[in-house]
Amino acid sequence: MKTIAMISQKGGAGKTTLTLNLAVAAELSGLSCAVIDLDPQASAMGWQDTREKETPVVISAQASRIQDILQTAKDHGADLTLIDTAPHSDSAALQAARAADLVLIPCRPSILDLRAIASSVDIATMAKKPAIAVLNSVPPRGSLTEEALEAIKSYGLDIAPEQLGQRAAFVHSLTLGLAVMEYEPSGKAAQEIEAIYKWACMHLGIKPTQKKGEKS
Ligand SMILES: Nc1ncnc2c1ncn2[C@@H]1O[C@H](COP(=O)(O)OP(=O)(O)O)[C@@H](O)[C@H]1O
Ligand SMILES: [Mg+2]
Repeated sequence: MKTIAMISQKGGAGKTTLTLNLAVAAELSGLSCAVIDLDPQASAMGWQDTREKETPVVISAQASRIQDILQTAKDHGADLTLIDTAPHSDSAALQAARAADLVLIPCRPSILDLRAIASSVDIATMAKKPAIAVLNSVPPRGSLTEEALEAIKSYGLDIAPEQLGQRAAFVHSLTLGLAVMEYEPSGKAAQEIEAIYKWACMHLGIKPTQKKGEKS
């Protein structure tokens, strides 16, 4: 089982959006995926409450219980576990990063998100885990994106080759307890999530598609 932690000390960067969409992408491709919600605001749990499907399983927890929950997820056959964290939560984010194989740092191309990157990079460095920024909510045009990419690079952080655009489908789908691949399967948001999901799998060395129960 592989584990990805979503970390960003800035609220609204897209941690929960990325977590839930990647989790559904994994389930749709045949992997068994669990989500651990470390945010006391429990947005991921709330999403599962409005959802008709029982998968992906979302577990609300405190950071001190991460190792036990990861073991339980593994024992239940999870192939991938995604940890959604709260903003402004250095110690919980650090525990999540320590438990993960990969840290993803969603970041909007805005000065406030970019400033918050330094503390997320510090957390991943302390945890000695590879961290990669995922540019989120990218506007359709403008120089903002190029400037953001430059700013991220200046923190010595790698950037995912795929980005998420600023798209209403990301907002509407989660409100309905869905992910973009279910809400609008042939839409641009779904294509972006699929691309990030496949890239993350490649990065983790897991097969992005498999039959249920087949070990990666
Ligand atoms: N790519 C996107 N396009 C449009 N809206 C987005 C996008 N990503 C996130 N949002 C919206 O921004 C808000 C904050 O996103 P969220 O994932 O909850 O951030 P975080 O978990 O980091 O606080 C939510 O209302 C979400 O629907
Ligand atoms: Mg959140």
